Amino acid sequence: MPQVTIDGKAHEFEPGQKVLQLCLDEGTEIPHFCYHPSLSVPANCRQCLVKAGTPAVDRETKEPVLDEDGNPKINYFPKLMPSCALDVTEGMVVHTQLDSEEVAAAQADNLEIMLANHPLDCPICDQAGQCPLQIQAYKYGPEGSRFEFEKVHKPKRVRLGPNVVLDAERCINCTRCTRFTAEVTETHQLTIINRGDKNHPMTAPGQVFDDAYSMCTADICPVGALTEEYFRFQARVWEMDKTPTVSDFGGKGINVDVWTNNNLVLRITPRENLDVNEYWMPDAARLVYKTYNEDRANGPQIQGRPATWEAAAREAGRLLKDAGSTVLFLGSAYATVEDNYLLMRLAEAVGAEAPRFIDRRGQAEGDDWLISSDPAPNTAGCERLGMQPVDPALLASQVAEAGLVYVLQDDPVTAGALSEADLSDTPVVLHATHTTNQTSATVTLPIAMSVETLGTYVNEDGRAQLLRPAKMVKTMNRSLLMALGTGIGRKARVGTPFDRWHDEANQVDCLPGWATIPQVAKAVGVDLSYKSPAAIMAEVAERPAFSGATHGAMSLLGVPLETADAPAQLDA
Ligand code: SF4
Ligand code: SF4
Ligand code: FES
Repeated sequence: MPQVTIDGKAHEFEPGQKVLQLCLDEGTEIPHFCYHPSLSVPANCRQCLVKAGTPAVDRETKEPVLDEDGNPKINYFPKLMPSCALDVTEGMVVHTQLDSEEVAAAQADNLEIMLANHPLDCPICDQAGQCPLQIQAYKYGPEGSRFEFEKVHKPKRVRLGPNVVLDAERCINCTRCTRFTAEVTETHQLTIINRGDKNHPMTAPGQVFDDAYSMCTADICPVGALTEEYFRFQARVWEMDKTPTVSDFGGKGINVDVWTNNNLVLRITPRENLDVNEYWMPDAARLVYKTYNEDRANGPQIQGRPATWEAAAREAGRLLKDAGSTVLFLGSAYATVEDNYLLMRLAEAVGAEAPRFIDRRGQAEGDDWLISSDPAPNTAGCERLGMQPVDPALLASQVAEAGLVYVLQDDPVTAGALSEADLSDTPVVLHATHTTNQTSATVTLPIAMSVETLGTYVNEDGRAQLLRPAKMVKTMNRSLLMALGTGIGRKARVGTPFDRWHDEANQVDCLPGWATIPQVAKAVGVDLSYKSPAAIMAEVAERPAFSGATHGAMSLLGVPLETADAPAQLDA
């Protein structure tokens, strides 16, 4: 492998790599703003300057020229170079700000110029605490500023579109946002207007920045110039907990970070996974954050009256016993593989037909990228378990013949698969997420949503990915507490009713399916207890359709599954 020397240390590199990316990959930080690994390289912020040179070669002999000590002589480029645009070549020598006072001084000067017209907005800026400009100014900038004149004023609080707000004074003109709309979504909705210190991004006159991925510009904006309209001034970033998990918005399995404060989901941002969503996610997948906080089914109910979990499970068990093999089980493409698997085992134990699921494919408008035409996140997981979609033409008559309809995390009435009249004569056990569900139930067992559980979704490309709990449910069991890890801070994790800041009202009284289905099974004398959802998935991963998809293997980036045919029925 060819070699390059960075700050006196030799590193191997792949031909075609740029100095900045190589340094970042090798753990050497170089401050930078305009560079983004998936966009073109304009090298316009000039923050990533390094001193670089290549070995001198004798023109006649083509041999390296040696200095007095016998080491290769290095011809340094006459000026400092922007490392983001500099190709690494064999034998190159690079000095960063860590090794060269000249580089450190140039970077500090660049920051001083960049801050000459930058407002002192940090105390009220949503980017504070995660702002590359703020962080790099502290680490590499000058002590103060020599610019004492009034700063240039530019437009503030400009609604570029429904989801993005511009503060032009904070913009450092890195052009990441304009390159995003030109190169990634190709809507070309943003451009830089004006000249010199008056310039900033803007839409064409009369145009609205309504790109379906517009909020990605706020993600990549290195300052607080572009902010998400829904999240502005909601919380400081250091007050929030950030949990890496997977979105339940559609079948693409977008990797996300879920940001919570006081057990409410306040923000969802994309998490890098080059095999799934790279660095991006659509606006619509962020705006579902409210569904985790509002109108949640809260506490079990029997005939619409509050009940304990034990009583509700007992009643569900009694209804199951009464109906026996005539129970109609409906699994769900919104529920995890683990929950659907336990439902299949329960159906098998009571001698009923295997669960089917309501197939949502084609019900949404997809865009051939990260917005799927399947609004449900786990259709592939259901299919790989061997579940068949319900036949809409037969479902109503199947309900009429059933002694009980048992529904896991779905709403057949809202889905249009059944009418309220279809269900009027048949008892229903429903693992419900929201009070807005239109399917009325005899027994309601509120179920944790994707941000509150530990489990697996399989996306439409056959990638098994792990969900992690980002917020607490009212009764945390050991598996959920362990999965919270250190991502959830003191505020959400260990608050008690005696803490002034603690608000139990935001903890929904619901449980994952893998916690409640075993309780219902116990009520009919069936043992479905597992040590943890990881143990359930370890059993599922023994099937060819899920081979290798253990929780440990899925980790943060998921596991691509073989394109195995789903088994026709549950293994004994
Ligand atoms: S963009 Fe960064 S440096 Fe500028 S005001 Fe906001 S937090 Fe401060
Ligand atoms: S708004 Fe942000 S991303 Fe766009 S040019 Fe300015 S600093 Fe860069
Ligand atoms: S990151 Fe290299 S010039 Fe901006």
